[in-house]
Amino acid sequence: MKAIEIRNKYLKFFQKHGHVVIPSAPLIPENDPSVLFTTAGMQPLVPYLLGETHPSGIRLTDYQKCVRTNDIEEVGDNRHLTYFEMLGNWSLGDYFKEESVQMSFDFLTQELNIPVEKLSVTCFAGDEDCERDNVTAECWKKAGIPEERIYFFGKDDNWWIAGEEGPCGPDTEMFYDTGKPKCSEECNPSCGCGKYVEIWNNVFMEFFKDKEGKYTKLKQHNVDTGLGLERMAMLLQGKETPFETELFAPIMDKLAELQKVDNIASRRIVTEHLRSSMMITCDGGRPSNVDRGYILRRLIRRMIRHMNKLQISLDELSTLIDINVENLKEMYPALETNKETIKTVILEEKDKFVKTLTKGEKEFVKEMETVKSEGKDTIPGTMVFRLYDTYGFPPEVTEELATENGMKIDKEEFEKLFKEHQ
Ligand code: SER
Repeated sequence: MKAIEIRNKYLKFFQKHGHVVIPSAPLIPENDPSVLFTTAGMQPLVPYLLGETHPSGIRLTDYQKCVRTNDIEEVGDNRHLTYFEMLGNWSLGDYFKEESVQMSFDFLTQELNIPVEKLSVTCFAGDEDCERDNVTAECWKKAGIPEERIYFFGKDDNWWIAGEEGPCGPDTEMFYDTGKPKCSEECNPSCGCGKYVEIWNNVFMEFFKDKEGKYTKLKQHNVDTGLGLERMAMLLQGKETPFETELFAPIMDKLAELQKVDNIASRRIVTEHLRSSMMITCDGGRPSNVDRGYILRRLIRRMIRHMNKLQISLDELSTLIDINVENLKEMYPALETNKETIKTVILEEKDKFVKTLTKGEKEFVKEMETVKSEGKDTIPGTMVFRLYDTYGFPPEVTEELATENGMKIDKEEFEKLFKEHQ
C-alpha cells in the first residue's frame, strides 16, 4: 500500500466516523513564536485543545506536515527523518478513550489489514499527577488485544506534551511487531531494539502543565492522535527502512546510478534532506543565518556535503529536484506550483555554499595538520570559531570533517566563544 493510499484511507475512515477533514497547516507556524517549525499535528490546534471553538467542529481529521530537526545528526541511519507526515484524528471535548481505542483498532485491523497478533499497546502506569490508565487498557482488551500484549509505562514513555508548558496527558501507543526475535527475556515495546515499531500515539489530553510544573485539568477532555505515515508505509510494504518505499526510492535509485563512491548513509542523507528542504522552501522558508532559516541552510548544506562525498556533480541537483516534484506532486501539489521558486532557492544556496566550502575546507585541512603535528586529536574551539567567523564554515561541518578524520572538536570552547560573540 502506497503512502498516499494510507493517507486517503485514513481520512475517509475518520470522515465515515463523523470527522471533518481539515487541511494541513503550513510547516512554518502562523501564530506560534515558540517553535521554528510545526513539529506535531497538535501544534496548530492548541487553541482548540484549550477550549476555543473550532470552525469545523469537534471531530476533525487531517494530515499534518511536520519537521523535527533535533535528531538531524542521526539521519543516515535506517529510520530517522527530519520531515515526516503525521495522520491525526481529533476529539475536541467530544469522544474519549473508548471510542478512540476502538477506532484505532478497527482502522489498523480492518482498513490496513494488520493481523491482531502483530499489535502490542502501552498505557500510562500512573503517578502522583495522574492515575494509572486502566480504563484504556480495558478498552484495548475489549477491542481484542490480549492482556499479555498490554504494557504499562511511566511518563517517559506514555505521556505527551509539546515542550515545557501546554496541554498534555497520558497516551497509549500502538506497536507493530516486526517478527524479529526478542532481544532479551524482558524485551518489550519500550526497549528500542527494533523488534517493536511504534506506529500510532493517542494522547488523552485533559491536563494543562504550567511553567512551574503544576498540572490542572483542562475544561474539556480531548484526543490527539498521531500516526507516522512514512513508518506505516514502510511496515505495510515489508521494507526495512522508509528509504525503500516509493516516497524515497526514486531519489535513492538515481543517486546510486550517479554516485562514484558507494555510501548508503550519504544517499539517505541527500534523499531525506532534499525532500525536507523542498517542503520547507515550498512553505515559504528561506535559508539564512538565524532560526528556521539556519535550519534550512543546514539541511541544504549537509545534503551538498554528502553529494560531494558520493562524488556526484552538484549540477545534478536540478534533476533531483525534478524527480522529487514528479514523485511527490500527487501528495503535495504545491511542490509543482512552486517548483521554480524551490529550485532557485536551493540552487542559490548551493552556489553560496560551494564558495564557503572551498575556502573553509582548505583552512580546515591546514588547521587539522597543525593539530596533528602537535600529536593531538582535538581541534580547539578557537579554530572552530575562526573557521565559522572568518570563512562562514558551519561548526557542524567542521565537526563532521573532524569525525571523518578520526578527530574531535572542542565543542564547549566553541560554544563559549560563540556566546561571547553573540
Ligand atoms: N501529539 C502526539 C505526537 O506527536 C500525537 O499526535 O506523537
